[in-house]
Amino acid sequence: MSRKDALTRRAMARAEITDAMTLDQKADALEDALSEELDVLVMPPGALAHPQFPVPRDDFPKSTVQMHREPRLPEMPPKPTLTDFFKLRWAPASHVLQSAALARKNGYGDRIVLACLLHDISVHGLIRTDHGYWTAQLMEPYVHPEVTFAIRYHQALRFFPDPDVGYEYPANYLKWFGEDYLAPDYIRRDYEYAKAHKWYMSARQVTMNDLYAFDPDTNPKIEEFEDIIAAEFNQPGEGLGFDQSPVAHMWRTMIWPNNFL
Ligand SMILES: [Fe+2]
Ligand SMILES: [Fe+2]
Repeated sequence: MSRKDALTRRAMARAEITDAMTLDQKADALEDALSEELDVLVMPPGALAHPQFPVPRDDFPKSTVQMHREPRLPEMPPKPTLTDFFKLRWAPASHVLQSAALARKNGYGDRIVLACLLHDISVHGLIRTDHGYWTAQLMEPYVHPEVTFAIRYHQALRFFPDPDVGYEYPANYLKWFGEDYLAPDYIRRDYEYAKAHKWYMSARQVTMNDLYAFDPDTNPKIEEFEDIIAAEFNQPGEGLGFDQSPVAHMWRTMIWPNNFL
């Protein structure tokens, strides 16, 4: 049975349609039931929950509650690798792939190329807010600290020009945030901290290879970076999400973003 048929069948069971109903009443009851079933299927992650967050009732078929299954996303292998996440959760991830390809073309070392490859992964797979900090934390157990430094501080550095290396304030930011946008205090503080750090240039280089426009003509594939991943990413044997690292739960959240509990 297709998922659509299964959904319709559950809605029919839920709708409590009786012979006494008019055709209109039957249609309304079915529509309401379908809508309730759909609410459960598309239950948003907790961070995005709204006051009408649907709570399964006793009569809900178990299959409507998401627990360690995510029928709307491709299934992940039991021991997921970084490449599996690129292909099955973050695809197409064109922006980070293009940034890494540009860094490689510009002759940067493996660590900077890897930092570029990973720098916005939280945006692709977890959460947008404070994406540099989230992404750095996700990667911390698996890469050299210089890589996570570069990822974490690219978020602050992109708001501050560095004429010595030809980095200008992004024109898009003027358009998106307005001429008078001022980065908040914590971003200014972290910029000052990073500026005085020995790895300042690593974080700066991520911003220099950060592409602020999507280029439809370049389409690098994750396979092109397998040598760098093998050399610089410490893939856990148990698979990302199952290695008992302090961030394993964050990777599991990307595998199953809608578990009910
Ligand atoms: Fe970014
Ligand atoms: Fe970026």
